[in-house]
This record gives sequence, C-alpha cells and structure tokens, in this order.
Amino acid sequence: LELAIASSGGNTSSPLKYGMLYEDIYHSGDGGMYAELIRNRAFQGSSANGVASTARNTAYWHPVGGVTLSIDNTNSPALSSSLPYQMAMTVPKGTVGTVGFYNDGFWGFNVDSAKRYIASFYMRGSYAGEVNFHFQSITSGAVLGSTSAAMNQTTSSGWVQTYSPTFQPSTSASNANNTFYFTFNGTELAGQTVYFNLFSVFKQTFNNRINGLREDLAESLVSLNQAYLRLPGGNNMEGNGPPYEWKWNLTIGDLKTRPGRPGTWGDVNTDGLGLLETMQWCTDMGLTVVLGVWAGLYLDGTIIAQANLQPYVDSVMNELEFLLGDKTTTYGAIRASLGYPNPFTIDYVEIGNEDYLNGGSSSYYSYRFDAFYHTIHAAYPSLHLISTINPSPVTATGGEIDLHIYGNENYFVGLFSTFDQASRKYPVFVAEYAAIQVGSQSGQCGAQTLGMACAEAIFLLGCERNSDIILGTSYGALIKNYNEAPDTVAVIKHTANEILLTMSYYVQKLFADYQGTETLPVTAIGGGFGPLYWSATKSSTATILKMVNHNGSSQTVVVNVKGSSATTATLVTLTASNSSSVNNIPGLGGIATEITTTTISGSSGTFSVPITSAYEILVLSV
Ligand code: AHR
Repeated sequence: LELAIASSGGNTSSPLKYGMLYEDIYHSGDGGMYAELIRNRAFQGSSANGVASTARNTAYWHPVGGVTLSIDNTNSPALSSSLPYQMAMTVPKGTVGTVGFYNDGFWGFNVDSAKRYIASFYMRGSYAGEVNFHFQSITSGAVLGSTSAAMNQTTSSGWVQTYSPTFQPSTSASNANNTFYFTFNGTELAGQTVYFNLFSVFKQTFNNRINGLREDLAESLVSLNQAYLRLPGGNNMEGNGPPYEWKWNLTIGDLKTRPGRPGTWGDVNTDGLGLLETMQWCTDMGLTVVLGVWAGLYLDGTIIAQANLQPYVDSVMNELEFLLGDKTTTYGAIRASLGYPNPFTIDYVEIGNEDYLNGGSSSYYSYRFDAFYHTIHAAYPSLHLISTINPSPVTATGGEIDLHIYGNENYFVGLFSTFDQASRKYPVFVAEYAAIQVGSQSGQCGAQTLGMACAEAIFLLGCERNSDIILGTSYGALIKNYNEAPDTVAVIKHTANEILLTMSYYVQKLFADYQGTETLPVTAIGGGFGPLYWSATKSSTATILKMVNHNGSSQTVVVNVKGSSATTATLVTLTASNSSSVNNIPGLGGIATEITTTTISGSSGTFSVPITSAYEILVLSV
C-alpha cells in the first residue's frame, strides 16, 4: 500500500476535537475528582442496591471506645437547614480512655508521607480537651500519621468547627487499606451525647485549590491534553426523577449550604465539587466550557409541562448571569462575594441531555427547546446553543447538535465513513461515545480491550477527517471508581491510591497530542480502507498521518508527503499483545498498552512504515 499525502486541499479542523464529559456518576466526583477523603461526611443520603436516596444513616462510620453512634435530626439546632442530619455520639457514664470514631473513606484512604493533609469537623456539645486525628492501617494496625488540636466548647457555644493542623503522615501506606480516626478524651465526655457534622479530610489538591481536585487524577487529565469540559452531565444533570435535577444554586457557597442529592447511577452527590469548583477546574486546565443546562426532562420520563417551565428557564438565566455577569449584576455580585470577581468565559451551552430518550422528543420539539433557546439567545446572542436531538429544532436558526454514540466494537469500526457525506450546515459534538462491547457481542463490557480501543480510534479517524463539522468528541464516562460494580467503561478508573489509564485513555491522548489544524487529502495506491484506516492532517510544524489496523495483516506502508524533503520522521505506535489485551491496576496485571516512539529515516518526504500487529495504532509525524 502506498499513501500519498497532498500538501493542501482539505478542510479546516475544529480546535475542540478532543474533550471530556464530567458528571458525578460512579464516584467520579465524590470519591474521585473531588479531593475530599471522608465518605458520608454530612449524612446527605444513602445508597442501597445501587440506588441513591434521601434516607440517612451513619454508614462508613464506626465507634471507638464503647460509644454509640446514631443518625439524628431531632436534637436542634441542626448545623444548617441544608444539612439537617447529624451524627450523635453517646458516651456511657464512667467511660475513661479514648473515645470517638473512624471513617472507611471511599474504599480506603491514600496515605502519602510526601503530601499535606488537613482534617476538620463541626461539633455541638460540651468538651474541653484534645481531639486526635490519625490514619491507621487495617493491614498492620499501625498509626501512619497523627496530629491533634485543642478544643474548648460548651453546649451554649453551638456548632464549633475544629481544624487539625496541616500535617504530613509519618509513613506512607503500601495500600489503601486504611481508616481515619477522630478521637477524644472519654473521661471528659462520659455521660454525654454530643453531635457532629460536616467532617473533612483533604489531601493537598491540584494547584493547591481549597475544596479542589484530587491531584493525581487531575494530573492524568492534564496529560490527556483535551480541549473542553462538558459539565455537569449527562444523566446526572437530569436526575432520576423530581425534584432531583442538578440545581446549580445548591452547589455553590459554603459547604454548610449544599444539601447534596441522590445522584444517578447509584451515588449520593455531596455537591462539594460544585459549579464554581468545576469552572475553576476548566480555568486551571485551560479548557473550553460546554455548559449543560437542564431542560425539563427527568430520567424517569417526568416532563415539566409548558405552563410550569418558566421558573426553570429563569434559573438557567440566573446561572448564566452568575457565571458571565460582572460584579454589578445581581448574580455576578454573588459570584464575586464567593471569591470569583471575574466572569468566566463560556462559548457553548447545551440545552438538555439525550432529550430523545424517556419520552422527551415531542415536548423538546414543541416547547422545551424553544423556551430555553430563545431566552438565552436574546440575552447572549454570541453563545453557541447545542441541541440534543438530531435532526435538531435548532436547524432553523443555526447551531450545534450533540450526538451520543455507544455500541459494540464492530459498530464503531463501521462508523469510519459515517460523517463523510453529512451536511456541512450542522456542526456536531459527539459529546459522548464509547465502544462498550467486544467484537459484535452485546452486554456492557468494562474492560476496554485493544480491539475496542482500535475501533474507537477508527471512529475518531472518521471524525478527524470531517472535523470541519465534527467540532468535538468526548468519551462517556470520564472517570469511574474501580471498586464500584458494575465494571462499565471509562477513560480513567481509580482506587483510593491507584489510577488506571485505560486503552481508551491512550487513544485519546495520542489523537490529542498529534493533531492538525487542517485535513489533507490522501491518495491510496494498492488498497482502500479496511482493515487498515487512515487520516492525514497538518499543523504549523508537521504533517501527521494516523493509521489504525483492526484485525489486519502486517505490511509495510509507503508514505509520501507531497512537497516534503524530510529525511526523518517520528513514528509513535500503540499496540498490545492481542486484541483482548486490557489495562488493569498493578495488582491485577497492570498496563498492557505498549507505546513506542521511534525516529525513522526516509528520503524526500517518503517513508516506509512497518505495521507489525493485527491491532495497532500508528502516528507518523513528518
Ligand atoms: O456517560 C454515561 C452516561 O451515558 C451519560 O450520563 C448519559 O448521558 C449517557 O447515556
């Protein structure tokens, strides 16, 4: 096969080709990106059989020293109206020695002696003495880092917040099998019931932001090199049913004022990683914001009637003023008062999520989309407004469409040419995609194989060839806790102390690291597409050819870059031992992906590129 790459004649590429979808499902926020380590910190709900609810309990908390722990919402005052439940600790009369409790964390705690930690909590009740904070290994029983603070409060003090000093553990734990203890002098508390709420243990965060992101996960995202963040969902923005859509105004401000809610896909959301924290995330990583706004459809099919929709439109307008308005506006002033004096930049707003599902189509077409579109457009004419249905109600006025594409590996291979003939009038975000099954099988498969990754890469080649109209692509889901069943697909899976970069992660990174600003026509001599697929682009510094082999043979491809006199080129290849190879956490096999970067020689812009594996992704940069 010979591939001749023209020096011009293609289309201008979107700068947003590769992006991310963030929503707090499967512990991608709480117990994931959000660096809070305490689980059930403010008793904001519970989850049973994979369904989150408003039922409260003291799950993940355990007594120390003969005390009784219980959930309580009768002994007033509560910490706040948003956090009406508290944990009561009853200390028997005659108690001596240490009392208190420990927390399980999100499947344990990462304890790293090189990092800073800080703990805190609110307590109501009488106590004069020390509180001790420490990590403890379940495996060895060893205390891994300990600090303390003095307390002196009476019942009439009301709720008092106590902070630990910032501390570094004395020892790093070899695994996540650790707990975190809060302990007190039992003699001082004997015979009393005292109340606790809003516990916290933060490990130092990405960019040292207060209430910020888990550092190692954030660094993995920086390295992924993506262009945009779509937030806050996805299904999680929609909510399972009334009244649990994602409400921006309940995710801002003091943590005491954030009630949390039953999230979708099983988790309780604390909303600690709220609107401002996610906007800060975008700012810190230089990401374009694609802001989703709820458009009146719940996952259970409940739809807001036309006559009742206006308050939801008003809420979106308030949110936009909160994010975009200057300090003289009502909501811009609130943002400024929360420490963000400057408006954020937002270019894209998506109206709803998957409104073609759950019976949403007809109301979306007939009134829901219009209500949001016209009101937002009138106030913010330069904002791009994205519809979630194809064909879109936006087509009359121009705008973008968000397509979500999930299917098996073979289906993704077949999508290669899907956009070649698409109308150039309607720009598209594929704001969610993933190959979710091996080969042609059905049934969700979470262990993303090399075969699935190559299929996703072929799909992305098709998007890249058409990136004049395919503005962006983002994988669903971005982050998932490895411990949480079922094992569905995600770009990154994590435990408390490990990060698993899936095959899909490497595909996206490779495509983002090597991308051009315009496509280039390629003439093939001696073969056509399949089982080897390709796409060429050029940047200001290089001509880039991407090739993907999916169940193909080994061969040498002669690549000729027209007009080039180059004698060397960079060749990056991604493969693994076979199509079913998967990446895993170290204890379960580790990373199977093999990425090699070599310099190859050629003459006058012509290079012989060896394809050596049946499943392989190659990037040649000349
Ligand atoms: O990516 C996970 C989920 O899949 C999203 O929340 C939803 O929009 C889609 O169906």
